[in-house]
Amino acid sequence: MKMGILGGGQLGRMLLQAAANYTVTTYVLENDPQCPAAHLCHYFVQGDIQDFDTVYRFGKQVDVLTIEIEAVNVAALEKLEQEGVRVIPSASAIRTIKNKIHQKTLYQAHAIPSAPFVVTQQQTELTEHLHFLPAVHKLGEGGYDGKGVQILRIEADLPQGFNAPAVLEKMVPIAKEIAIIVAVGQDGSTALYPPVEMLFDPILNLLDYQLAPASLPEQTLWRAEAIALKVVKALQSAGLFAVEMFVDTHGEVLVNETAPRVHNSGHHTIEAHECSQYDMLLRILLNYPLGNTNARSTSALVNLIGAPNYVGSAYYEGLQDTLRMENVYVHLYGKQQTKPGRKMGHVTIMGKDVTDVMHKANLVKHTLKVISKNTIHE
Ligand SMILES: Nc1ncnc2c1ncn2[C@@H]1O[C@H](COP(=O)(O)OP(=O)(O)O)[C@@H](O)[C@H]1O
Ligand SMILES: [Mg+2]
Repeated sequence: MKMGILGGGQLGRMLLQAAANYTVTTYVLENDPQCPAAHLCHYFVQGDIQDFDTVYRFGKQVDVLTIEIEAVNVAALEKLEQEGVRVIPSASAIRTIKNKIHQKTLYQAHAIPSAPFVVTQQQTELTEHLHFLPAVHKLGEGGYDGKGVQILRIEADLPQGFNAPAVLEKMVPIAKEIAIIVAVGQDGSTALYPPVEMLFDPILNLLDYQLAPASLPEQTLWRAEAIALKVVKALQSAGLFAVEMFVDTHGEVLVNETAPRVHNSGHHTIEAHECSQYDMLLRILLNYPLGNTNARSTSALVNLIGAPNYVGSAYYEGLQDTLRMENVYVHLYGKQQTKPGRKMGHVTIMGKDVTDVMHKANLVKHTLKVISKNTIHE
């Protein structure tokens, strides 16, 4: 079986690590020959995942094709599907999800709870929606890791809005951000991972801390699970999906957004769950039975992101001390260069309870830092 991955970042890298357990020949398409996945696949193809001909030619060589980022050429995937290449997630699911306007419209059409929104084509239109403030303006396409998301609280903030097709979404009074990963097999069977709870770095707007399973009242958990299943049903595609949700201050569950792929919120599953999200996606791609999503223990996840003020060749300060810690698992993504906010790796911490893993997560956060010895910008 020949499997292709569009994109060669850390998600692709960890998918390839899991692929090594099966008889599958792996292909990666990515522009950067030094990318995290380039050295773990059988065949690395240098090229643009947004270019029709490049994606089409790449896809023609494989039996099954998946993505590790949504910003791919969907038209090429549609043609490949028509010509018998298995594309997971489906081209139409990617088309819907990669544009936040389409994504929100899908939730609305399927009565999936999500914050009220209006679509804006250009920045000047924002003045027509003053009653919507405070709100969050989200670029239709091209945003990632908080880039492409702008908070508009008052009229004076409107000039910061996007001058391109975007979604203006009512600000949700968030009590908790959670995510549920759902696996959908080629036969339509489904499996849910327990929800994770996310905490964000307020300055870089990057997820930097996560707890699994999330502590939620049973009713909230059931609601979140039902909503996550409704999302994948609406998408009508096999694959692995991460459904990001808000629990608001009234206890309501609202979908924020969905990723049609392995996700940062599932890194901990490598050690902390019986079947990792990566193994799970491979099972889906190879048409094997879905794996068991049970947690082996409570876990926390710390993202290793490039420290502020350091640009250059990456150096992992405190690595030795971290590696000495019990039940702590370090993953470095093999990126040569660090810069502020860049995702350079992650650390999973397993433990007996929430207090235990949170304590150790804080210890890891203060011990392990990604800096550079070469260039220090004050
Ligand atoms: N409607 C909203 N109300 C309040 N906060 C929001 C809202 N939408 C997004 N956010 C905040 O912004 C973050 C990034 O938004 P998101 O749509 O997930 O963009 P990205 O594609 O960058 O992950 C969310 O994780 C959440 O913290
Ligand atoms: Mg998000």
